[in-house]
Amino acid sequence: MKRIIAGLAGDGVGPEVFASARQVLDTLDDLFGLKLEFRQALIGGAALDAGHDTPLPDATLAACNAADAILLGAVGGPRWDDYPENQRPEQGLLALRRHFDLFGNLRPVLAHSALAHCSPLKADRLADTDIMIVRELTGGIYFGDKQQQPDQASDLCIYRRDEIERVARMACRIARERSGRLTSVDKANVLATSRLWRQVVGQVVAEEFPDIRLDHLLVDAAAMHLINAPSRFDVILTENMFGDILSDEASMIVGSLGLLPSASLNADGFGLYEPIHGSAPDIAGKDSANPYAMLLSVAMMLRHSLNATYAAETLERCIYSAWDRAVFTADLGGGYRTQQITEEICQALESANLNQRVAACYE
Ligand code: IPM
Ligand code: MG
Repeated sequence: MKRIIAGLAGDGVGPEVFASARQVLDTLDDLFGLKLEFRQALIGGAALDAGHDTPLPDATLAACNAADAILLGAVGGPRWDDYPENQRPEQGLLALRRHFDLFGNLRPVLAHSALAHCSPLKADRLADTDIMIVRELTGGIYFGDKQQQPDQASDLCIYRRDEIERVARMACRIARERSGRLTSVDKANVLATSRLWRQVVGQVVAEEFPDIRLDHLLVDAAAMHLINAPSRFDVILTENMFGDILSDEASMIVGSLGLLPSASLNADGFGLYEPIHGSAPDIAGKDSANPYAMLLSVAMMLRHSLNATYAAETLERCIYSAWDRAVFTADLGGGYRTQQITEEICQALESANLNQRVAACYE
């Protein structure tokens, strides 16, 4: 059976990292017979430039609706800053998250010893850092009512109980498969939504996941602890805006914003996969973007949506071994171009597969 991927390259470095993902997926398809089929479509500024009056054209939504998974590069850039609010490129991504009800955003933060020199933190602080940030993605201040007048503006932050419950359950299930520890991050000393958040997360854990060890942390303290002692965290559960900010912060623990992948899932397990970095317009078109966040997002897609765990593991192993060989772009202190890294990974996949076959002959 064919597996259809809706490919949305988007803006800035999006098309470059997307091309890298595409080439790696084609290689994996050849090696493992994944039967992948790509349907590329426009999103963000690229859709506006092509003459659409929306950053999420109907044809794009139709391609996503017909797909088994969505793979996205990045959206946005200063070129579209003057567009009206509802036409900004980011609105295309937000509308997509909303349309598919992709409420659970998983952002793994895994420190790797070969990258320790890239992190602004001292190596001893990084050791053993392995965090899963679970960010609520379809509620809160991102989606509340917005008002803008010349001298006054407001963004409503609103959460319903059921929105908190479902993402709390997702985080608990993930924590169960890891160490059983969950840290819920809020601002309950100031915000009403955070007081509801804290109460509902506490209830979900007490009633449905009594084996989970839950603690609550205020977001300002969480930002501090994340830098001071990242390895104290395992699963972090937080609301939309705090998750956006903390995950960019967390990427620097690993070494670069260009390293963190993400999966955004709905209740049926349908997912959109994208690097957490943005469109990086300053380096767009220069073949210098770091493709690893995108390639790790591909691994998440293979695992969560395409039932191809073996391919995902092989890809991850090849990425980590490339790091051990210092196959790095400029943001990591290396001299490799995007395209060169892609070639390296594809070659590594081919030889990993060859070694596997040779080993199988002797079993
Ligand atoms: C992210 C991005 C998006 C967000 C933008 C592009 C709308 O920063 O996925 O972290 O704020 O959610
Ligand atoms: Mg962000």
